[in-house]
Amino acid sequence: MDQVTAREASAAPASPGRDDAAAGPVSAPAGSAAPHLRAVLAGIGAYLPEHAVSNDELAKTVDTSDAWIRERTGIRQRHIAAPHETCAFMATQAARAALADAGVAAGAVDAIILATATPDQAFPATAVRVQAALGAGGFGFDLSAACSGFIYGLSVADAMIRAGQVRNVLVIGAEVYSRIMNWQDRGTCVLFGDGAGAVLLRAEAGGAGGASARGILSTHLHAQGDLADILYVDGAVGQPDKPGHLVMNGREVFRHAVTRLAEAVGEALVANGLTGADVDWLVPHQANMRIIEAVGRRIGLPAEKVVVTVDQHANTSAASIPLALAAAYADGRIRPGQLILMEALGGGLTWGSALIRL
Ligand code: ACO
Repeated sequence: MDQVTAREASAAPASPGRDDAAAGPVSAPAGSAAPHLRAVLAGIGAYLPEHAVSNDELAKTVDTSDAWIRERTGIRQRHIAAPHETCAFMATQAARAALADAGVAAGAVDAIILATATPDQAFPATAVRVQAALGAGGFGFDLSAACSGFIYGLSVADAMIRAGQVRNVLVIGAEVYSRIMNWQDRGTCVLFGDGAGAVLLRAEAGGAGGASARGILSTHLHAQGDLADILYVDGAVGQPDKPGHLVMNGREVFRHAVTRLAEAVGEALVANGLTGADVDWLVPHQANMRIIEAVGRRIGLPAEKVVVTVDQHANTSAASIPLALAAAYADGRIRPGQLILMEALGGGLTWGSALIRL
């Protein structure tokens, strides 16, 4: 698959753009509940660093091979950020594309939720850097849930929209994992890449209810902190002599990933009275082809209904789902009205699922 650029990702609208994009919260009048607000996906955008690195190129600097990486993971290449391609820069590019796609002005954004495990600074939040770069209003914060960050972000945004607190919310996943890799550790450095993806969620009132309604139908979040030590970043914030590197027990992560992700997608379907046959697309976290296939099989989804970008992007953590979404949207696979199931698992362990009708 070709590289997804911000321009391609914003080529065609997911839904008619709005020109009445007034800024500010959509709070219901005092004493009345918000009128069945739903979080509708109005725009999708993505950004990938210019520089792509093939498995063969990596094999020149670390003891590995294209065959080993492809057989074990499905990865063929990954994009690696240049110095100017910071987390905030990539997030801003993806956000701009999502806004353009939705036809919404930056000034109408009420909130920016930026999921990342690789912020440019401990603080301020990368989200407020993005806010400034976009010229957006409202507020913003970073969300730390590793590879599950985008699903967590969707869940928080959905709750805020349903509560009537915000109208237009950017949910962004942006990662620069190349900066936390131990480039001598072949067990991890071949697996990850950099990039950013964003969606604009918009509050919409009324309409059909149940699983035929547009927007986020459900989200399910989980964490199990006693498994923190199977996937983490060592080193410490504020100690430049101890740069943090990703450390992983791959076999343990693999074992938990298949079980937990299968549970999470099952949970989403049961909560909405649906089966795998109702799903148009599974857009999974892109960690490893074998995990993706195993989860698809558990819900009886044929491979043609699973969006795969891990071959081109490798694992971009919180950015992987919106990047995959943008790729399938740009090439016309994902269309309005379709039912999209997303799932992710990452360090924490954290995991979860989201079901959305475009
Ligand atoms: N190239 C060549 N050989 C390698 C490499 C490499 N890049 N990495 C490890 N090896 C070697 C090991 O040294 C070992 O050699 P040995 O038998 O001589 O000791 C051998 O390959 C097997 O190593 P394992 O770690 O047991 O390999 P495994 O088959 O488990 O595959 C992998 C490793 C791909 C990491 C797998 O465990 C996996 O996919 N785990 C899931 C982890 C994951 O996706 N993490 C992403 C973050 S979490 C998430 O996003 C879900």
